[in-house]
Amino acid sequence: SEAIIFDTDPGVDDAQAIAIALRHPDIELLGMTTTFGNVDADTATHNALLLAELAGHEIPVAQGAAAPMVKPRHPAPAHIHGANGLGDIALPAVQGRADPRDAARFIVDTVNARPGEVTLVAVGPLGNLAAALQLEPALIDRVKRVVVMGGSIREGGNVTPVAEANIFNDPHAARRVLTAGWPLTLVGLDATHRCVLDPARMARIAAGQGRLGEVLADSYAFYRDFYREMLGIDGCCPHDSCALAWLLRPELFTTARGHLTVATEGEAEGQTVFAPENRGYIEPRWSRTPLVDVCLGADGEGVVEWIAETL
Ligand code: BDR
Ligand code: CA
Repeated sequence: SEAIIFDTDPGVDDAQAIAIALRHPDIELLGMTTTFGNVDADTATHNALLLAELAGHEIPVAQGAAAPMVKPRHPAPAHIHGANGLGDIALPAVQGRADPRDAARFIVDTVNARPGEVTLVAVGPLGNLAAALQLEPALIDRVKRVVVMGGSIREGGNVTPVAEANIFNDPHAARRVLTAGWPLTLVGLDATHRCVLDPARMARIAAGQGRLGEVLADSYAFYRDFYREMLGIDGCCPHDSCALAWLLRPELFTTARGHLTVATEGEAEGQTVFAPENRGYIEPRWSRTPLVDVCLGADGEGVVEWIAETL
C-alpha cells in the first residue's frame, strides 16, 4: 500500500479526494497538511479535520501556508467552492484540534521517520512543500515520490489563459517544488479536464457514505453550478482525486518525461512550461532542469469509474 501525506486546501474536489484517501484500502494516510487556496488556511484546517471526523478517522492535520511566498494573497472567488470551501452547506462542529507542528515540520518529521517510503500528494498551492524543502533539503532523496495536481501543458489554464489555479496561487513556491529534482509527477488540467464526475455517479457515491456522503453530495451540487456556467458541462472535474488515481492506477494516464518549470511574472505568471526530454534547445538551461513526469491525458471514464467504485 502507498503511505501518503495529503497536502490540501479543501475545497469541494479536495473533499472528494480526502474521502478516497481515508477510505481506500491501498492508501495509508499518515496525515494531512493544509494551505490557503480555495479558502484561507484556518478554514482549510477546519474542513480537513471535519472530513476526517465524518469518516471516523483520527489522523494528524498540520496547518501551513497562509499566503503565497512573494505576491499578496487574493481570496479565492466564493462562487466556485463557496465561502466555507464546501459549497456553503451547513457543517457540523469539529471536535479535534490541529497538530501543534507547522505543515512543513510535519512533512519533514514524517518523511524522516520512514525514508524512501512516503509519497507527498499535493493538491493545493505548493507553499508547504517549498517550506519543507527549505527546512530539509535532503527531502529530495528521502521521499518516495511527489504527485502534484496542478498546471497545464497543452490544455490552457483555468485562472488565466495559461495558468492553472494551484500554480497561479503561488508560482514561486511551485517553481521551487517542480524544479527541486525529486521524483515528481504532475497531474494537470490535460488529465483532469478529461474526467467528469457526473450526477449519476455522485448519487452512487453519496448513498454509501452516511454523513460524509451528504457533505460530498451537497457540496458537489454547488460546484456543479459553477461547471455548468463556466464550461457548459453537467458534472464536475474531480481534479484532486486524479492525483490519487494516478498513484494507484497510473495505466489510466498518458505521461511524458521532460524538463518543467514555472513562469513567475508577467502575462505568463503561473504557466507550467514543459520541454520533452531529448530535444535540443539552443538555450542551454532547458537541459539542466531536472526531469519529471507530466500527464498529457487520461482515460476519463476509467478515472471517474475508479472514483465511484472507491467511494
Ligand atoms: C485546482 O484548483 C482548486 O480550485 C481545486 O481544488 C484543484 O486543486 C484545480 O485547478
Ligand atoms: Ca485543491
